[in-house]
Amino acid sequence: MTDEPGPDAEALDLDDARRRYHFALAPEDLDRLPFYSALLARLEVDGVALALLASVRAEQRNPMLVLAALHRAALLGHPVLAPIYDVVRHGVATDLDVAAAAVVEVVRREPEVVRAQLWRSTQTNEPGRSAVLQAVVRDLVAPGETMAVIDVGASAGINLFFDRFPVRARDDGDPLTLVCEDEGTVDRETPLPSVGARVGIDPNPLDLGDDDDRLWLKACLWPEERRRHERFDAIVARYRSWPAATLLEGDALERLDDALALAAGDDLRVVVNTWSAFYFTEPERRAYYDALRELGASSNVAWVSIESTLVAWPGLEESTDERRRGASQVVTSSPGEAPVRWGWCHPHGRWVERLSRP
Ligand SMILES: C[S@@+](CC[C@H](N)C(=O)[O-])C[C@H]1O[C@@H](n2cnc3c(N)ncnc32)[C@H](O)[C@@H]1O
Repeated sequence: MTDEPGPDAEALDLDDARRRYHFALAPEDLDRLPFYSALLARLEVDGVALALLASVRAEQRNPMLVLAALHRAALLGHPVLAPIYDVVRHGVATDLDVAAAAVVEVVRREPEVVRAQLWRSTQTNEPGRSAVLQAVVRDLVAPGETMAVIDVGASAGINLFFDRFPVRARDDGDPLTLVCEDEGTVDRETPLPSVGARVGIDPNPLDLGDDDDRLWLKACLWPEERRRHERFDAIVARYRSWPAATLLEGDALERLDDALALAAGDDLRVVVNTWSAFYFTEPERRAYYDALRELGASSNVAWVSIESTLVAWPGLEESTDERRRGASQVVTSSPGEAPVRWGWCHPHGRWVERLSRP
């Protein structure tokens, strides 16, 4: 039976949900992801899909949550979704608009498939951002210094191992290789600093060894990107052989001091947030920024932020550069210095551009 939105739907902001579906993908990804593009185009005009997204708590009202819930059901073998997602994942030629329509029909007939997962959070743990982190720490950490990495909003902590991934401009077939173009704007030659403490903070740390967590991490990947799935599988196969890391449960502000204390032995403690401050409340973001400014003024704490341009940092002028629509902004600060816009990157680290120093 079709589950139409109930009377409460009137209280939901369906226009806001429509906008969120409409702008869910960066413009440069629309052509690359024809299935998700077709699916989002249909979700944004479907009343049930709009009501589902509008019902999500504000800080997680992200279409990716709905997409991940559907993908999860497919991975679990849903009779309609599984074959569709399988075809999409393997790039088999099919009418993607028909496929998208069939998925939306499942949303209409079985909204529970989505609704039952809306308590979760978008926890995509994207190793591609490690390619950007590598470029940034080469700038921040002086030769011979050791660094600690403190990843705020670490999800499963994959980017705590940012130095474990080879980075190349072209694919070399190794599933762990991060393919990242940089047009020669970043240093890829200097050896990476030696990393001591690796500490993550997350209100809901995910465990790569746990079946349900692993399934959710997979579901948060986009089915059309086979390379990301292969990389994830390679990480799951190898992470146990990587250096030890600690994941602390809690909010950024609650656990920052604990994380920094665990990293006291390193020359430079680099606090990183990649697509996590996006989910902070406004007061939390402000307090986090103030805490980092204070720490940077008085101790060996540096900061790297890789976030959507929707995340505005107090000291930084908003960019009006149209070319950057959909890109992520890279902001850094060194101890004793004010934060600066270091550069730009693709949200998943497919490219990075270092701005020239003023
Ligand atoms: C989209 S994921 C990004 C994960 C990881 N940073 C990456 O780039 O792969 C956002 C993460 O931020 C976490 N998060 C949300 N609110 C947070 C908060 N207040 N403090 C710390 N982490 C938070 C979520 O639990 C989630 O794991």
